[in-house]
Amino acid sequence: MTTEISFPSNFIWGAATAAYQIEGAWNEDGKGESIWDRFSHTPGKIEGEDTGDVACDHYHRWREDVALMRRLGLQAYRFSISWPRLLPEGRGRVKQASLDFYDRLVDALLEASIAPFVTLYHWDLPQALQDKGGWPARATAEAFVGYADVASRTLGDRVKHWMTLNEPFVSAMVGYLEGRHAPGHSDLDEALAATHHLLLAHGWAVPVIRRNSPGAQVGIALNLSGQTPASPSAADRAMAWRQDGILNRWFLDPLSARGYPADIVQYRGRPMDFVQAGDLEAIATPLDFLGVNYYTRGVVRSDAVPEAENAPRTVFPNPERTEMGWEVYPEGLYELLGRLHFDYRFPVLYITENGAAYLDQIGPDGQVDDPLRVAFFKEHLTAAARAITAGVPLRGYFAWSLLDNFEWAHGYSKRFGLIYVDYPTQRRILKTSARWYRRVITTNAVID
Ligand code: FCB
Repeated sequence: MTTEISFPSNFIWGAATAAYQIEGAWNEDGKGESIWDRFSHTPGKIEGEDTGDVACDHYHRWREDVALMRRLGLQAYRFSISWPRLLPEGRGRVKQASLDFYDRLVDALLEASIAPFVTLYHWDLPQALQDKGGWPARATAEAFVGYADVASRTLGDRVKHWMTLNEPFVSAMVGYLEGRHAPGHSDLDEALAATHHLLLAHGWAVPVIRRNSPGAQVGIALNLSGQTPASPSAADRAMAWRQDGILNRWFLDPLSARGYPADIVQYRGRPMDFVQAGDLEAIATPLDFLGVNYYTRGVVRSDAVPEAENAPRTVFPNPERTEMGWEVYPEGLYELLGRLHFDYRFPVLYITENGAAYLDQIGPDGQVDDPLRVAFFKEHLTAAARAITAGVPLRGYFAWSLLDNFEWAHGYSKRFGLIYVDYPTQRRILKTSARWYRRVITTNAVID
């Protein structure tokens, strides 16, 4: 029996990428150095000592890539602008050649009837700003507004969907506390100040973008993930709630005019003296949409009580994992979308990233068959459709990613693309999932 899960007629189908992960051309046409250039050029930071120097060479191959998007039937494309490409020092001098690059890209997308969804900051801070303190410094938020102004003044007549930031949690916590991402620091005070200045940069930029881009929809993309207690014990529930606070509420609450969650402020036990009068109001500027990046959930076991004294586990993660080691848990997308709508009431939601890394290989027939990725997308889209039926204002879905690309600290070892990239030749091959996704788009349905 065939089942068919259809989507609302105006649902937007897209795919996403980020500048540092695909562009390459790291030092061409006067581009400034980013913290990711510096970090990836530092030995020992990236698997296989990979760098984004060339990546998918999208800076030179963008025409071919837009043609591929057209073949997929994409209705929207989420990409990010490289801040140090536009402003090599982070502020002041603007590179015209870089503006021209994004200008032409946007025109080509519109020509192909693909709506550009632009992210202003997907982690590639100009190194010049890091040298002056980076996100722990308030001045970086001010510089961001200048950058947002330049970008939205140039493209705002044609780009009608903007995201200020991608995953501020990751920029701040993985970059300044865990040290696995650029700039590779391990300092909680820096990380907390960074979260605040990122959110402030966002809040200050929203009215600037709206002024420069009449009628635009402005939002932010957050990495969100439900945290489930491993048992109903008080200890597990408390720990799961704390994890939820660190990961989800620390961003959702201030954006929704609830301020920083008091339980986490207390748990951190650090001065929040970087918060100044008026900041929380700026951060709470109403959004037109929230972008949701969903990959997995957390199953949380408390370490506050000895294992023998804790209640037996009742929640067991699905043993199926992606190459990132992340549990495959489509139900978590349904749960998350419901919570975001019924608890936070953002006017519109987009899934701005969802996808999976698997070990893809070119077969003897020259094709790349990726049935696990097809199954992953199918299950997550089914969960998304159920959320829409339940009343969630979900308006679109962006697969991560259009192309295999530089997966941050993992280098090129993890492939997330709908399109396979053979890095030595830069040849692109549509995977089975790309053909499957094209059918989803043309039928506006998931058909089994
Ligand atoms: C997200 C990032 C994106 C990509 C995916 C796998 O956290 O936003 O750039 O790396 O994870």
